[in-house]
Amino acid sequence: MTFGDKLIEWQSFRKSEKANSRKDFFDPISRKWKPGYSAGEMGYPLTMIKEILPSEPSPDKAIGPDGVNLDYDMDWTGQPGNTYFDLKDRLVENFKYEVAPENIILTNGTQGANFSVIMASIQKGDEVIIPRPTWTQWEPLCHAIGARVKILPLREELGWKWDMEELKEAISKNTKMILLCNPNNPTGRIYNKKELKEICELAEYVDAVLMADEEFRGLELDVPSMSTPPTCNMYYNAVSNQGVSKILSGAGIRVGWAASQNKDILDRANAVARQTGQIGGLQVILAWAANEPTVFKKISQGHIKFGKKSRSILTKYLKEQEFFECFIPKAGFLSFPGWKYDIDAISFVDGLFESERVRCWPGTKYGVEKHMRLGYGRIPTEMFKDNLRKIDNYIQKFI
Ligand SMILES: Cc1ncc(COP(=O)(O)O)c(C=O)c1O
Repeated sequence: MTFGDKLIEWQSFRKSEKANSRKDFFDPISRKWKPGYSAGEMGYPLTMIKEILPSEPSPDKAIGPDGVNLDYDMDWTGQPGNTYFDLKDRLVENFKYEVAPENIILTNGTQGANFSVIMASIQKGDEVIIPRPTWTQWEPLCHAIGARVKILPLREELGWKWDMEELKEAISKNTKMILLCNPNNPTGRIYNKKELKEICELAEYVDAVLMADEEFRGLELDVPSMSTPPTCNMYYNAVSNQGVSKILSGAGIRVGWAASQNKDILDRANAVARQTGQIGGLQVILAWAANEPTVFKKISQGHIKFGKKSRSILTKYLKEQEFFECFIPKAGFLSFPGWKYDIDAISFVDGLFESERVRCWPGTKYGVEKHMRLGYGRIPTEMFKDNLRKIDNYIQKFI
């Protein structure tokens, strides 16, 4: 069975969960997506292209931000050639990496960074520790490689953190990689500096690579933005992956990166990245322009302001009702409420969609029953409140 076959098998497994199929929401008669698709969006609309590119062409008449001559810098192919402008310097500054700009590789989104680092770091039989619930990309990749996957649950009663004793027990001399999402998707939990240090020490003890997907870093809602340290600052074999999708609402731009003190890990990951997708010059320019420090601050602070507002609406709602129990997220736009009532997650979210036209993801997709992912990102405030009212209406029959 090839690597591709294994991934296809995994995807069809995921599609077989009825609630995960987008077809469920598509009305074949009107040929329109049914309304109320998501309780709250994951990200924010991409307004930044307008914000970041000057309306006037640059003095030499080439279109593009001031100082960038698209003809000269990108060649007619649109490939970036040898220049990435000073994107990597900007990343070091904005994301507070304590590594040199050349210790950053560019990838096709954070997904590309995760893919490249995992593919470059482990092989068949290697032991990998993966938390649950977390971002769902890594587990099928590790299985497809033939790694020995050890799922280590995040404990809800500990605020969706690992029980450190369990982590100590799980780690062995065969552990080649530990994976982490910080802040965590879908629970919004943050590991602070002290906690990260403990995890790094354990990884160092067995000389494992520690890959941290930091997609939501910078969107902290209770502590200053970026005050959660990037894991790559804390341990030589740690890799911090991030991209422009969330913090800069640029999911369509497809620019991500991996940063590490360990150049060897990066060189191997870069070899994978270069064989699995190129980043075009325009993508680089957009990521570069969005990372201009004042633009970066304006966009990211706007998201944080909105996130705080939506989270306070969500928190108020959660306090008032009895059905859900929920850790209040500390970053990003996702929450992961759970319930003790006798209904499984897929039936629950399907029923919610059928009766109220509000769509949430079942926790089953994250490997956790009786939970659902409830986004509270940038949809109009009144619509979000209305969605919460509909959810509240739906849960009455279980109470
Ligand atoms: C934790 C996490 N990692 C990676 C991704 C994918 O990011 P990108 O669009 O940069 O590939 C997402 C998207 O939701 C995410 O939540």
